[in-house]
Amino acid sequence: MDKILIHGGHSLSGSIKISGSKNSALPILAATLLTREPCILHRVPDLSDTHYMLQILMHLGAEVERASGTVTVKAEKTESVAPYDVVRKMRASVCVLGPLLGRCKEATVSLPGGCIIGDRPIDLHLKGFEALGAAVRVENGNVKVFAPKLAGAVINLRGKFGPTVLGTDNVLMAAVLAEGTTVIEGAASEPEVVDLANFLNKMGAKIEGAGTRRLIIEGVAELHGAEHDIIPDRIEAGTFLVAGAICGKGVTLKRVVPEHISAVTNALTQCGYRIETTDRSVTVSPNGEAQALEIATEPYPGFPTDMQAQMCALLSTTKGISAITENIFPQRYMHVAELKRMGAHMQLEGATAVIQGVERLFGAPVMASDLRASAALVLAGLKAEGQTEVSRVYHIDRGYEHLDEKLSELGAHIERVKA
Ligand code: EPZ
Repeated sequence: MDKILIHGGHSLSGSIKISGSKNSALPILAATLLTREPCILHRVPDLSDTHYMLQILMHLGAEVERASGTVTVKAEKTESVAPYDVVRKMRASVCVLGPLLGRCKEATVSLPGGCIIGDRPIDLHLKGFEALGAAVRVENGNVKVFAPKLAGAVINLRGKFGPTVLGTDNVLMAAVLAEGTTVIEGAASEPEVVDLANFLNKMGAKIEGAGTRRLIIEGVAELHGAEHDIIPDRIEAGTFLVAGAICGKGVTLKRVVPEHISAVTNALTQCGYRIETTDRSVTVSPNGEAQALEIATEPYPGFPTDMQAQMCALLSTTKGISAITENIFPQRYMHVAELKRMGAHMQLEGATAVIQGVERLFGAPVMASDLRASAALVLAGLKAEGQTEVSRVYHIDRGYEHLDEKLSELGAHIERVKA
């Protein structure tokens, strides 16, 4: 159980490289179950979540080789049951359901349990599988889906809070091997969904419309192996942009796709920071006094919910009254109480955090509760006077590759210690 110690008040500058995307790598690793042939994936980030997914693939019978950021998976044979012990560690494990149903016409996966960021049902995933002709049974904490054969269908995956990312991925991965044409309406259009569709098309799938709300999938009999580069992680990039805004004097991110983070760069520009982009890099630098801001989280291309906590940290020391409304996971505010322990002034009004900017924050021992909340506490620690001690950093290791090392490369006084 490591802790991270941050001595705040040191400005950041310089450049770092962004890693491969966690939320793209996870469904793409699951998609390798759709073929008997080897798949070679580059830029797979070194995270506990990607390790969990590799464990699941090996448990299902796949051969897995890993050499730094390149992973080769060969699922010549595959079981169709993913047990609780492996699945319980990571909700995203649910995205092996679609590939197993597509390939084996049956799959049993432990139902994801509760999540600290809010209610996260998978009803839309199951609705999609049923539309493709699968029977769905939930019993003894497992979800079992099976079908003698899958047939194309028209499916609307839009839910109360908008499209579902992993739901779109899961149904897409089942539909690529269904007979006939499937149309997914209300599909998620996140860059990670597009990256998965590009990988599947390289395997021989026939998918059109990726990146829009309407996907058209022409089912094929089988898929072959493929080689693919995972896209850069736009949420890691957004997190470092906020670090550069919170206490930087010119921070450049390399190996990013600026378009993927335009909602974040637009928000920072509105706040008054200077943003300069080239086709593969983004630089953030101060540009006079920052302004308060009002934003709301939305499905892509709107402002990402996975950047909400980090923006709370930035706006906590931005002069004036800011407001952030969380439309995707309305209860996703575990970081607020911890930021208040560091001297932030924030009130929750329903799904909106109202933030009164303060002059300074003070270092304190704080507790990480989930991946993005823990990143927000580290960012606040960079700004705070004195030492901040973030515990339960295993949350950070789930989604950030060497966060503390990269921050110290930029000049942060940060270290990881054994608890
Ligand atoms: C993905 O989760 C990401 N995880 C999340 O990132 C991200 O916060 C989320 O998309 C939204 O962008 C991965 O890609 C591994 P959703 P996912 O299904 O797919 C409701 C991080 O920090 N819903 O798009 O599980 C749901 O409750 C993680 O990296 C249903 O009602 O999220 C939510 O309110 C955290 N029924 C909304 O839709 C369903 O069947 C969007 O959830 C499915 C979802």
